[in-house]
Amino acid sequence: MRGSNYLEIKAMRSRLVAGNWKMHGSLAANRRLLDGLKLGLQATDGVQYSVCVPYPYLAQVEAELKGSDIAWGAQSVSEWPQGAYTGEVSGAMLRDFGCRHVLVGHSERRALYGETDKQVAAKFQAAQGAGLIPILCVGESLQERESAVTEIVVGRQLAAVLDSSGVGSLANAVIAYEPVWAIGTGRTATPQQAQAVHAFIRGVVARQDAKLAAGLTIVYGGSVKAANAKELFAMADIDGGLIGGAALVAEEFIAICAAAAKA
Ligand code: PGA
Repeated sequence: MRGSNYLEIKAMRSRLVAGNWKMHGSLAANRRLLDGLKLGLQATDGVQYSVCVPYPYLAQVEAELKGSDIAWGAQSVSEWPQGAYTGEVSGAMLRDFGCRHVLVGHSERRALYGETDKQVAAKFQAAQGAGLIPILCVGESLQERESAVTEIVVGRQLAAVLDSSGVGSLANAVIAYEPVWAIGTGRTATPQQAQAVHAFIRGVVARQDAKLAAGLTIVYGGSVKAANAKELFAMADIDGGLIGGAALVAEEFIAICAAAAKA
């Protein structure tokens, strides 16, 4: 932890805890999970809660969460506004179902579906164009970390968006640092490892716009659970989390949100 000045600046930033359900769920299981979340999550100043669900369940989450203190969103979006793109879903369609957030450039999309930095940047732009808040995911693989190129990789992923949308676009976006080696592996980055990359990201943005960088919400993702959330969220540049596995268990997600509210 650095000086109290940093903590004051941190306290002014909005925090976010977003669940990434990935390809999990069913109407019945979602209903139980959403009922639990609605009971357990109440509005907290400065903290937003959200769930990013598979496309077919957007109507269900909209019906269940409308009027609650929980926002919702999707896990990807097309870079195109409409047209002959079989299997794709546009930002405007997500807005039709009340989505507030959308994940862009999740490492599983990059690794399994070949999404390039350029495509991720286009999706980011399309999401904002449709009035969504993109949660831009960046992060290095284990091999990249071991080759000490983490900052080069994350810097490149960030630059793709900064170059195409401009630094001002980050005023309506969230960045998620998700080291690929920590996703779904049970192997969390230490708070210090995560903090170092968060500070690097904020520094890159600050070189273009210091004020915007100071207010930018940067969340950490990768095996966050109730047991480790508090120490991660206590770090100067960590403003919440993007939660995979633990977002599927109401008590876990609620406990993680409580840790963010207290941070
Ligand atoms: P995890 O996933 O919490 O299960 O590691 C995080 C993510 O992929 O967003």
